[in-house]
Amino acid sequence: MRTLKVDLGSRSYPIYIGENLLAQSGLLAAHISGKQIIVISNETIAPLYMDKLLASLENLNAHKIILSDGERYKTLTTIESIFDQLLEMRCARDITIIALGGGAVGDISGFAAACYQRGVDFIQVPTTLLSQVDSSVGGKTGVNHPLGKNMIGAFYQPQCVLVDISTLHTLPSRELSAGLAEVIKYGLIAKKPFFNWLENNIDRILEFDSDAIEYAVEQSCLCKAEVVASDEHEKNGRRALLNLGHTFGHAIETGMGYGNWLHGEAVGCGMVIAAQFSAKLGWLSDKDVSKISRLVSTAKLPIQLPKELTVDKMVELMAIDKKVKDGKLHLVLLKDIGEAVLTSKFDHDLLYNTLNELHNNT
Ligand code: NAD
Ligand code: GLY
Repeated sequence: MRTLKVDLGSRSYPIYIGENLLAQSGLLAAHISGKQIIVISNETIAPLYMDKLLASLENLNAHKIILSDGERYKTLTTIESIFDQLLEMRCARDITIIALGGGAVGDISGFAAACYQRGVDFIQVPTTLLSQVDSSVGGKTGVNHPLGKNMIGAFYQPQCVLVDISTLHTLPSRELSAGLAEVIKYGLIAKKPFFNWLENNIDRILEFDSDAIEYAVEQSCLCKAEVVASDEHEKNGRRALLNLGHTFGHAIETGMGYGNWLHGEAVGCGMVIAAQFSAKLGWLSDKDVSKISRLVSTAKLPIQLPKELTVDKMVELMAIDKKVKDGKLHLVLLKDIGEAVLTSKFDHDLLYNTLNELHNNT
């Protein structure tokens, strides 16, 4: 087992990464101070992993809350139904909520934990690659609003994150690839040697080689923990670098209709677009753009803009992305593999023309 730390002073917490950690009694129990535990999961994940998790909690008094599966249930209505159940069970302020699932379960449960009786202890047990390397670390919690994704939420850090990579064996391969987009992102924004390692080892990850997966999760969480420790509330531009590919990606996701492209698929394509635009600005070599496209494509992620989405629509959607500040569109772009910058200083006509060129080439 590998243990990392998210360094946030009195709110610091460990990330445990390894195989079969769900079965290790004591690991979670050490982070539970109250008497009652509420495990929140969904109808897909609970039948696979709930019993194993409850068995490891042995003598503790644990209850389950099972949500419907899907991003469309990441709403305030679901949060309200969690509050109803917690109150019906007469849960006091000393409960610990454990999120067992992917990013959707984690975001919902974390937000419920942040709000219930003004905040109760919370533990993340992520079961998708995306949630293991990204959403479970860093304390962003929340739900969607009809007018925007993740628009209602709170920064609320967990007591610990337990990453059992064995849970990935049941994950559909398309979801594994979606998680790989975020893994590649860490190499691109801050870790060139890790990017180089991924070039040589991505096939091992796709074949579920547990050593390769454990290393990739560790390197990703190290990068995320370091970024979060330096900019917990996304105030100084550092945490915003985690959004490489996301402005283009969100436009693709929304433009294609939620659910048609997975978030990670859109981010993978978005990172390739960011690399191509960085090359147009003279920041990145064509050789590096090819390396990035090749790695994203080997991860079984799309690298070309969808033909159905017009460039005008895409630009319109990018303009309403959260990364617009003071009326200006900010993009995360690449100066090099391993070096990202957040900037609003680029020629908008060049961006439009680049997107058009990429669209015509699909
Ligand atoms: P998800 O939670 O929707 O899970 C994807 C699918 O895989 C679901 O059907 C789920 O039930 C299933 N699943 C999960 N684990 C499984 C397993 N081990 N075996 C079989 N099936 C399994 O998707 P996700 O990609 O994990 O997370 C996406 C969500 O995360 C979005 O809501 C996004 O907004 C959020 N997110 C949050 C942050 C953050 O910092 N908080 C960061 C990135 C994404
Ligand atoms: N997933 C982006 C962040 O945590 O800031």
